[in-house]
Amino acid sequence: MEEDNWSRFEATCRQCRKCPLCETRTQVVIGRGEPHRVPVLLVGEGPGEQEDLQGKAFVGRAGQLLDLLLESLRFEPTDWYIANIVKCRPPGNREPSDEEAAACLPWLRWQVKTLRPAILVCLGRTAARHLVDKDIRITAARGQWVERQGFLILPTWHPAAVLRDPAKKSDLWLDMEKVRLKLDELRREGKYV
Ligand code: URA
Repeated sequence: MEEDNWSRFEATCRQCRKCPLCETRTQVVIGRGEPHRVPVLLVGEGPGEQEDLQGKAFVGRAGQLLDLLLESLRFEPTDWYIANIVKCRPPGNREPSDEEAAACLPWLRWQVKTLRPAILVCLGRTAARHLVDKDIRITAARGQWVERQGFLILPTWHPAAVLRDPAKKSDLWLDMEKVRLKLDELRREGKYV
């Protein structure tokens, strides 16, 4: 039943024309992962060139780095789902405007409601701005847990920022290790299966 709902959601979302990004996209990028309940939802900014072409989130270089990290921290594919603030590629990979994000966020909210994660990871400033605080400073906020509406949220660097500046790599690793430890803790306490 849940899968029927998800398929209907995908079909509707793929027709979305709520903002101008629909004019330039190749494909709507719903996310990546199994659409079942997951403990961890990672949220990026918006699809890049590869994602727009392949129709899946984080399949370019940033995604490969993230996959490596998730694997090395022993996350199972059933532990996470990954999506973006906007589902269509902003031209030239610019940051999505607030209007574009506002038009798109109801789709992400539906995904959150359906996937019921305990932990949200904001990959980069854009995700943190829209999910935590419009004035957030990612340099100060990264690695610090915040709680919003029952979700544990951890802002961290976007993997693309790590590719541009390898000095950030150990921060991203440490932050994702915190996510690993928090998930283990929730499971130990019986708060998450
Ligand atoms: N960067 C993002 O923010 N999202 C993707 O899906 C790929 C790169």
